[in-house]
Amino acid sequence: MTTAVRFYDHQPVESSSLTMREEVLAGLRAPQKYCSPKYFYDQLGSELFEKICQQPEYYLTRSEEAILATAMNEIEELAGKNATLVEIGSGASRKVRLLLEHMEISSYLGIDISRDFLLESTAKLAADYPWLEVHAACADFCQRITLPEGLTEGPLVGFFPGSSIGNFSPTEAEDFLTGLHSTLPEGSGLLIGVDLIKDTATLEAAYNDAAGVTAEFNLNLLRHLERELGASLDPERFIHRAVFNSTHHRIEMHLVSTMAQVITVAGETFRFQEGESLHTENSYKYSIDGFQALARRCGFVSRAVWTDRGQNFSVHYLERRG
Ligand code: TRP
Repeated sequence: MTTAVRFYDHQPVESSSLTMREEVLAGLRAPQKYCSPKYFYDQLGSELFEKICQQPEYYLTRSEEAILATAMNEIEELAGKNATLVEIGSGASRKVRLLLEHMEISSYLGIDISRDFLLESTAKLAADYPWLEVHAACADFCQRITLPEGLTEGPLVGFFPGSSIGNFSPTEAEDFLTGLHSTLPEGSGLLIGVDLIKDTATLEAAYNDAAGVTAEFNLNLLRHLERELGASLDPERFIHRAVFNSTHHRIEMHLVSTMAQVITVAGETFRFQEGESLHTENSYKYSIDGFQALARRCGFVSRAVWTDRGQNFSVHYLERRG
C-alpha cells in the first residue's frame, strides 16, 4: 500500500542545531539556570513521553481521552463535516485516532519538532486510514505556524491536546494563541486540552510517577545536550524533582545537582552548587473561567467545554473570531 504523506520541512537540521546551541547556552548562563522543554523531544524523549502518558499517576491522558470519547458527537457538530484537523505537537498522533474513528474528517496535518518521530507516526496514520489525506510539517510550534497551501479549503479545526498550552507561561500562552488566531481562518475551531488546578498531592504524584519514567524523561534532556551539543556532563549527578508552585499554579520540573560540579556545554563551562537546579519545565494549571478569559483576549470565544467526572481536566472547543 502506498502511504503518501506530504511532508513540509520548516526546521532545517543545521539552523535548528544553531538555535538550539544559542538557546541552551543562554539558559545555562541565567541566574536560575533553565532549558527550553522542547529539547526533551528527541526520538527517545518522544518515546518516553508516550510512556509517561500510560503511568497510573498521570491522570491527564486518561481524563482527556475519556472526555473526547463522550464529547465526540458535539465536537463533530461544532466542527462540521469534512473538516481538516491540524494537530499541533502531534507526537505519536494517538489521540487524533479517536477523532478520526468517530468524525468525518477529510485531511490531517501533524506538526511536530521531532522529525523522525513525526514521519513514523504520520506514515502509520496514513496506512491505517487510507481515505485520509495526510500532511506532516516538521516545525517548532513556538514559532509562527504557516499552513501549507491547499489545506485551507474545508473547515479547519486546530487540535492541541495534552495540556501542552500549560507548558507555556500565561504570557507565552497568549502570544501563542494570538499567533494561532492569525494562522487560522475566521470561524476555525480550536479543540484544546487544559489541565485544571487541583490538590497538590494529586498534581505532584502525576509528575513523580513511581516507575520513574518522568525522571528518566527529564534526565534524557541532558543526554540530548550531550549528543547534540557535545556536552561533557554526567547525568547521574542530577536528580529529577517536580513540585507544585501554588502561587503560580504550576508544576515545576527541575534537574537538581547532587554535588558541586562543573559541566561543559558547547565548549562553555557552567558551575553548579550542590542542590542547585536546572529548571526544565513548567506545567501551568488553569480554572475553566481563567482559561476562557485568556482565550477571549486572543480572539477565541468558547463554544463548549467538557470536564471528566473528577473535574481533573478540561477540553475546550474555541472558535476563532475576527
Ligand atoms: N503538557 C503535559 C503536562 O504538562 C505533558 C508534558 C509536557 C509533560 N512535558 C512534560 C509531562 C514533562 C511530564 C513531564 O503535563
